[in-house]
Amino acid sequence: MEIIIQPNAETASLIAARVIARVVREKPSAVLGLATGSTPLAMYRELARLHREDGLDFSGVATFNLDEYVGLPPEHPASYHAFMQEHFFRHVNVRPENIHIPDGLAPDIPAFCRSYEEAIRAAGGIDLQVLGIGSDGHIGFNEPSSSLASRTRIKTLTAQTRSDNAANFGSAEKVPIHVITMGVGTIMDARQVLILAFGEKKAEAVAAAVEGPITAMSPASILQMHPVAKCITDEGAAAKLTRTDYYRWVYDRKPGWQKV
Ligand code: PGA
Repeated sequence: MEIIIQPNAETASLIAARVIARVVREKPSAVLGLATGSTPLAMYRELARLHREDGLDFSGVATFNLDEYVGLPPEHPASYHAFMQEHFFRHVNVRPENIHIPDGLAPDIPAFCRSYEEAIRAAGGIDLQVLGIGSDGHIGFNEPSSSLASRTRIKTLTAQTRSDNAANFGSAEKVPIHVITMGVGTIMDARQVLILAFGEKKAEAVAAAVEGPITAMSPASILQMHPVAKCITDEGAAAKLTRTDYYRWVYDRKPGWQKV
């Protein structure tokens, strides 16, 4: 895994946006796997700016979001459908028919999950998957003990995740218990993965994912097996890593053609 430690979330997000912009410029029909939460907000802002000011064109791009709460209609302000419209889609030119977000109201959830996997395959697979990391090490909503080979399915949130996400609902008790999430195996099939982590609250999860053993207790640790994974952090989220001198040394000496 490539570890990129930045002074703050803002500079880290600019790098993430540049990685995505490069993929979209090289392949205008790129398939992007997208994430929600507070982590990717500045990255979406920068992508919107690149669209507005530099003509970054998303008209051929298809997107697949990682997850959605079961039982929330798309217009619910805490739904990930609403989040994506507000923070990304209304600012760029992704065609509505190319946007895919799990349907929290699907009447037959297993059938919906199979169709989501099928739609990813039919689109040619995900070229680049953006991820945040939960304070419990989850990616998507794959909580600790998730099968590392899992596919899109229903999951039950941990108490910690419901408490972490309470602000959007008023209280932890109001956070839905169930979600639909791409599986760990679905994420691992992406050709490139970008995991972002900001703030000291994520430091333990990042250290376990990057330097700990590969284990279902830290679903993000499976990214150690991914051939093209970048982990971009701020100083806070990097605080519990032990080899930071080496990671900085590597980044500062990247050959020009590898730089973003
Ligand atoms: P956050 O969530 O970006 O809101 O911290 C990350 C996650 O749960 O994956």
